[in-house]
Amino acid sequence: MNHHILFRSIGAASFAALALAAFSTFNLQAADKKLTVGFAQVGAESAWRTAETESIKSEAASRGVNLKFSDAQGKQEKQIKAVRAFIAQGVDAIILAPVVETGWEPVLREAKRAKIPVVLVDRGIKTADESLFATLIASDFVAEGRMAAEWLAKKSGGQARIIELQGTPGAAPAIDRKKGFEAGIGAHPGMKIIASQSGDFRRSGGKEVTEALLKGAGSGATAVYAHNDDMALGAIQALEEAGKKPGTDVIVLSIDGVKGAFEAMVAGKLNCTVECNPLLGPMAFEAVEKALKGDKLPKKTVVQDRVFDAGAAAAELPNRKY
Ligand code: AHR
Repeated sequence: MNHHILFRSIGAASFAALALAAFSTFNLQAADKKLTVGFAQVGAESAWRTAETESIKSEAASRGVNLKFSDAQGKQEKQIKAVRAFIAQGVDAIILAPVVETGWEPVLREAKRAKIPVVLVDRGIKTADESLFATLIASDFVAEGRMAAEWLAKKSGGQARIIELQGTPGAAPAIDRKKGFEAGIGAHPGMKIIASQSGDFRRSGGKEVTEALLKGAGSGATAVYAHNDDMALGAIQALEEAGKKPGTDVIVLSIDGVKGAFEAMVAGKLNCTVECNPLLGPMAFEAVEKALKGDKLPKKTVVQDRVFDAGAAAAELPNRKY
């Protein structure tokens, strides 16, 4: 090999090595740019909640986001710990579905100091300082409660003795669905809540509470209003075990619109469900990206919901995505 050829080969080899090194560095940088987002979820108390978790996880996967997931098992202390751990790990953003409305300021101030935007999904919080979160994406729970009351007023001709199954105490949907329902029945003197207790948004809770109430303050009930479908499905079991025909002897209505509720409506055991859309993943990550770019976000985006009654259930069931 003459000197020329030798130098040219060495030159080509070095160029290739340099190019390779540059490419790997570029690749590492690209890998570094992958967003890391922490998602502090309430728990897995209902079919709705599972659908929301799935929506956030699958949207993260399709966007190539590195998602850190935490299940607080319904406990605010655990959720606060999870948010603190995300801050310590230096995530790019946090998605939070707060268990309850109050008690968030200290940890959200820590996130703000660390310049980590927090996107609230599904449930709102009570705070005087709205700069502590980037945006809230949620349904209007007061409107859901009111829609349920209006539907029941029509169905019952304004005459109902109602058992109310409340959600988790202190949670925005429990507070607001109660408020909206009470406002809705307020216009109908023949509609009364005769017993009201929390079933914690769980099917088991709905069953146990209905069982107990049917033996006491709720014994003359003509309707059961549950703050979510899972509790209504539990109540249906309790009514059946008490020898009553849910959907016929006692009107049963609830909120969420999960597949199980549509199946119960097709079976004639549930009369109505007010939809509450849990498929918030796409909107949540869009908000995360905008917040990280410094775009201005609305403080709240309201997800639109509809009312479905038993008459529409069979046609709608095949279209349900959760
Ligand atoms: O915050 C939304 C509510 O929480 C859903 O209605 C209920 O099913 C869930 O547990």
